Amino acid sequence: MKIAIIGGTGLYQSEFIADPKEQTVNTKYGDAYLVAGRFADHQVYFLNRHGTGHKVPPHLINYRANIFALKQLEVEMIIATAAVGSLREDIKPGSLVVLDQFIDFTHGREQTFFTGEGSGVVHVDLTEPYCPQVRKLLIDSARQENLAIIDRGTYVCTQGPRFETPAEIAMFARLGGDVVGMTNVPEVVLAREAEICYGTVAIVTNYAAGISPNPLTHQEVLDVMSAHEDNLKKLFKRVLSAVKGANDCSCRHAVTSQGELTGGVNNG
Ligand code: HPA
Repeated sequence: MKIAIIGGTGLYQSEFIADPKEQTVNTKYGDAYLVAGRFADHQVYFLNRHGTGHKVPPHLINYRANIFALKQLEVEMIIATAAVGSLREDIKPGSLVVLDQFIDFTHGREQTFFTGEGSGVVHVDLTEPYCPQVRKLLIDSARQENLAIIDRGTYVCTQGPRFETPAEIAMFARLGGDVVGMTNVPEVVLAREAEICYGTVAIVTNYAAGISPNPLTHQEVLDVMSAHEDNLKKLFKRVLSAVKGANDCSCRHAVTSQGELTGGVNNG
């Protein structure tokens, strides 16, 4: 099976992939940079959404190029990671959360491959924005590795690159958010439009602004990520060992089942 891991802040390495080779994939949306290699019977692609060395801020990431590149490579499953702040005292820094919903506060980001005209118009269903099969795989794999995992969570996506104000965080918590980050939207949306199964394991790096007693720093996020790097790698190895063939999944028909596809990802 062809599987991609999208790493975020603090997860740049792909050393558990055998025979790694850097690859640039040209797409009509721009280039994507990834490392291709193998794990067991799987072809694995490791893509860092911020580029190497955290060069691209969240609002300038070329999400369409990244997801389209994976589609061109015929990837069927994406496991994404995301560093997040916690909106709730009971979700402590260091926790792993398998996301199940999101609330979008971004603006000005390209959220679709279907921009009208030749590529048509698609209103993709996001009742279950994160693939239930990938979510189960992540939850089961984490439990098998004895990693404490929170099996659901609503992700609030902010525009960044600044952190939030305490007033914003209080509002997000009242709206039902559990964690906050800057990158999962539109990545998860584009993956669904591309009919690729997509799940995210969020790593809580800090209490969000106003819940944390201290001002937030990017270094704090990096430090907590690096403290949990080994756990994440354990989780990925278990996930890659557990994935068998490609089960059919409604994600793979998310657009074609609507019968309105005239262009975009699949038909060029
Ligand atoms: N806010 C937004 N994004 C983040 C945070 C945060 O507190 N922590 C890690 N990514």
